[in-house]
Amino acid sequence: MEAGSRLAALSLLLSTVLSPCVCTVSPDQINPLVYEEQLLWVSGTQGEVSTYRIPLITFTSKGSLLAFAEGRKSSSSDVGAKFIAMRRSTDKGATWSPTTFIVNDGTHPDGLNLGSVLVDEDVGSVILIYSFCFHLYHCQPSSTMMVESLDDGLSWSPPKNLSVQLGVKTFAAGPGFGIQKRHAPAKGRLVVCGHGTIEGDGVFCILSDDHGRNWFNGAALKSIPYNQKKKAQDFDPDECQPFEMTDGSIVINVRNQNNYHCRCRIVVRSYDGGLSLPVDEVYFDYTLVDPAVAAGALQKDGVLYFTNPSNEQHRINLTLRWSVTHGQSWESKAVQIWAGPSGYSSMTSLDSGSPEDQKYIFVIYEKGQKNYDETISFVKIHLYGGQ
Ligand SMILES: *[C@@H]1O[C@H](CO)[C@@H](O)[C@H](O)[C@H]1NC(C)=O
Ligand SMILES: *[C@@H]1O[C@H](CO)[C@@H](O)[C@H](O)[C@H]1NC(C)=O
Repeated sequence: MEAGSRLAALSLLLSTVLSPCVCTVSPDQINPLVYEEQLLWVSGTQGEVSTYRIPLITFTSKGSLLAFAEGRKSSSSDVGAKFIAMRRSTDKGATWSPTTFIVNDGTHPDGLNLGSVLVDEDVGSVILIYSFCFHLYHCQPSSTMMVESLDDGLSWSPPKNLSVQLGVKTFAAGPGFGIQKRHAPAKGRLVVCGHGTIEGDGVFCILSDDHGRNWFNGAALKSIPYNQKKKAQDFDPDECQPFEMTDGSIVINVRNQNNYHCRCRIVVRSYDGGLSLPVDEVYFDYTLVDPAVAAGALQKDGVLYFTNPSNEQHRINLTLRWSVTHGQSWESKAVQIWAGPSGYSSMTSLDSGSPEDQKYIFVIYEKGQKNYDETISFVKIHLYGGQ
């Protein structure tokens, strides 16, 4: 490196380090910038795994980042035996631990499926909810399972079968994050929402008021016709992402499986802490064009963020949108994260109150050149254009 460019690099570094923080951020300053991107998993490159899919990401209460994915052992199929793969970062995503497999279903014909991750801030635990035998392929019944970490993701409990408490039903959590209510009503409650089987589909939430020890069934938004074969364009709410608004209501952004009413997202809201999802609170967000996929949604400092492959037909064009009007409208200046094949996505951010942590959100998504299931990619987004 020449002395001049070395000096330039040094002064750039210094200005980055010393530049004044965006101490009071206002929503109209939002100008998201893809700040860093790295691949966390590449399908077909690790001996025991054929395909990595269904990425989840969360911050722990200690500020570590945990990323999870299904490691599908012998094919890219939703059925079959799998691992839950995890990587952990203690420097906000700059570097990551090697992959560890925290759950292994052996050679099961219809093993585990992710899933929702959630953090209980009161006890500092991380909880993963996943399903087992969801497709009833050479097995029955379907079970809802849970593992928990009490040491910031380093070690995990043996799987616990929640179907003993919830009753046997086919329930696939998320995929995405579950929430712990921060505001009334039901402050402290754990809320995990997911969907049912193809015929008994719909959005269902399971709830815990004792930090995940006991779970009970909460809200349901059932498909129509319920428990019957669906036709194209029937009402079939499916995979979903709940998040809490600053007023304490829970908004759930939902996959519109059969393109009922539009090729766009279904949105529904609960005002009673996840006990009910009234039909009155259902609407269709025409701006959020969608090919029927699991999408990412997040509320941070009063601003909503949404990621999906923004295309009516195909899983391509992974796009970040944001709303400064609580979801009533979306800013027209969307940010394209990846033009090519892209599938499921999920988001997290750290709400520590520090100005530095206010600047970033973190996205994890399925990304490929030819097919969206080639890699799982992690993206750090600077919300204020790098300033
Ligand atoms: C979970 O519990 C239910 C209800 O007792 C049972 O039917 C099911 O077989 C259990 N699943 C597993 C994987 O142990
Ligand atoms: C990608 O998404 C943007 C924002 O929704 C949209 O304007 C554009 O038409 C999309 N492109 C493709 C190829 O789908």
